[in-house]
Amino acid sequence: MRILVTGSNGQLGKEFKNNTSNSDHEFYFTDKKELDITKKKEILDSVTIYKIELIINCAAYTNVNDAETNKRQAIKINLDAVRNLVEVCEEKKIKMIHFSTDYVYNSDNLNPISECSNINPINYYGISKREGEKIIEKSSSDSIIIRTSWLYSMYGNNFVKTIIRKGQNAKKIYVINDQFGCPTYSKDLVDCTLNIIVSNAFNNYKVFNFSNEGYTNWYDFAKKIFELKKINCKILAVNSEKYKSIANRPKYAVTDKSRIKDIFNITIRKWDKALEEFIINYK
Ligand SMILES: NC(=O)c1ccc[n+]([C@@H]2O[C@H](COP(=O)([O-])OP(=O)(O)OC[C@H]3O[C@@H](n4cnc5c(N)ncnc54)[C@H](OP(=O)(O)O)[C@@H]3O)[C@@H](O)[C@H]2O)c1
Repeated sequence: MRILVTGSNGQLGKEFKNNTSNSDHEFYFTDKKELDITKKKEILDSVTIYKIELIINCAAYTNVNDAETNKRQAIKINLDAVRNLVEVCEEKKIKMIHFSTDYVYNSDNLNPISECSNINPINYYGISKREGEKIIEKSSSDSIIIRTSWLYSMYGNNFVKTIIRKGQNAKKIYVINDQFGCPTYSKDLVDCTLNIIVSNAFNNYKVFNFSNEGYTNWYDFAKKIFELKKINCKILAVNSEKYKSIANRPKYAVTDKSRIKDIFNITIRKWDKALEEFIINYK
């Protein structure tokens, strides 16, 4: 299959690049300079020239705090550009795998969140991602949305890399302990996506949750990172009231992955096991 990956300079895009060199599929990786998804003609040209059968959309506006003030840009990339992608998929009768976020949910009970749970984003990044999802949900193309969370990798900016850097340069740090969620090692998300492509079972559901199994809070996540990386820095727990960020974050965003596991017959490892592998490879 000929597959176009957009946003290939982002952390997930780079993880795809790093894990597909031996694939039977032909991958065409494009960064923002080569293919700007806000320009429909550029998408159409790439899809036509490379005879693309599937798009993996890793391009997105992902700065959660900046989205609160830069709403137009968030909408331009997370909604308008997704519409461009969907229109090209419909015109060329091809499929797309798109990534979204647990921030589209806003659960106030402590049960794992399924794909059917209430949608009610509490920050503008979540709103913009949800608007993009709606276009895909209405689309006639066989496209799917994977909602992921707390993504980390060797690349770009993410919590794991930031906390390692901070821990190596400070005697003590403060980390929030009242926000719960599910870390996702981007390599596991790539493996899952490749399994979905092989299964080709695109027509059952449009939306799937994916993260590593189990859940944690940022404080315990940081503690585990320091333990595995042998970083000797004291971590002090604070609550979100004391450590305000520009954008609101959900207190409880623990997702249920039953659907993706059942439909695509995959197993997902626990977040601490995935983290162990990451830390071994992270120099
Ligand atoms: N990171 C997380 O914790 C997290 C959590 C939940 C869901 N997700 C979702 O997972 C997906 C991948 O996230 P990520 O962490 O890999 O994001 P990322 O590192 O920010 O990568 C996004 C990439 O998209 C590129 N991009 C932005 N505008 C573009 C455009 N108009 N055309 C083409 N490319 C463009 C960015 O380029 P520039 O940097 O040059 O702008 C960047 O390389 C996104 O859909 C995100 O919403 C991420």
